[in-house]
Amino acid sequence: MTEILDGKKTAEEIQEGLAERIERLQTEKGIRPGLAVVLVGEDPASAIYVRMKSKRAAKLGMHSEVLKFPATTTKDELHKAIDGLNLNSDIHGILVQLPLPDHLDPHETIDWIMPAKDVDGLTAISQGLLYRGQPCLAPCTPKGMLRLLDVYGITTEGKNVVVVGRSELVGRPLAVMLSSRKRNATVTVAHTRTRNLGEITKKADIVAIAAGKAHMLNASHFSEGVVVIDAGTNTIPCPEAKNGQKLVGDVDYESVSKLASYITPVPGGVGPMTVCMLLENTFEAALMASEG
Ligand code: GUN
Repeated sequence: MTEILDGKKTAEEIQEGLAERIERLQTEKGIRPGLAVVLVGEDPASAIYVRMKSKRAAKLGMHSEVLKFPATTTKDELHKAIDGLNLNSDIHGILVQLPLPDHLDPHETIDWIMPAKDVDGLTAISQGLLYRGQPCLAPCTPKGMLRLLDVYGITTEGKNVVVVGRSELVGRPLAVMLSSRKRNATVTVAHTRTRNLGEITKKADIVAIAAGKAHMLNASHFSEGVVVIDAGTNTIPCPEAKNGQKLVGDVDYESVSKLASYITPVPGGVGPMTVCMLLENTFEAALMASEG
């Protein structure tokens, strides 16, 4: 029997608890967690994600701001805006939506955010702390993928876990988190240059995929009973859909769901967990600020 790892339902449950904790923080300490999302340029997909993140934050009772800048914004203008957010005591979390226009260096921009407000977990300081196994705000997608496993009682202790993808946002931090002393997984990182990927993924107890390629893996890549967690969000043409497109993961859900013990759907799997972890990180950043 295959069980679906329902990210939508899990995220909603976590968010209910978060809303209560947010209210308590406000009544007990007079602090309302605040999230600022920075959007540079007119990328339509980014605009949708930013709107969703900000709306969810407001729904939970957070202070929520979106700062929109034209694609022609200079490095100095952007740094100045981030300086303002770093100094603003109403803001506990800052997220600069990626990708940025080509003339803006993402590392330089992200590192302008003060680490205590880095709710995306992407500054060099946050990444360094994660690598060292020290307390930090962890990147939202890998954190959400692992939380989903936790909620369904799937342990990683001593298991063979294959991570497909080595991006800075997902694959690499996920591999670090899985191999930590808390998770104790035996981790293999596969990527676009990996030879005989199927031979490697077939030996896995758990496969976590964030490769950014629609239907890259199918039933031939997995063994019976595998746990599959798919962070892919790819749009493919779909004549039956209203807008002519549909969202699919990196895994061919149709065939793989027949042999997996647990699998995330796309949409409704990892995506909602990512947003949920952003909200949780913002709450944690506000809590830390309240404790000095
Ligand atoms: N663009 C796509 N995913 C993300 C994310 O998790 N964080 C940021 N900042 N930008 C993104």
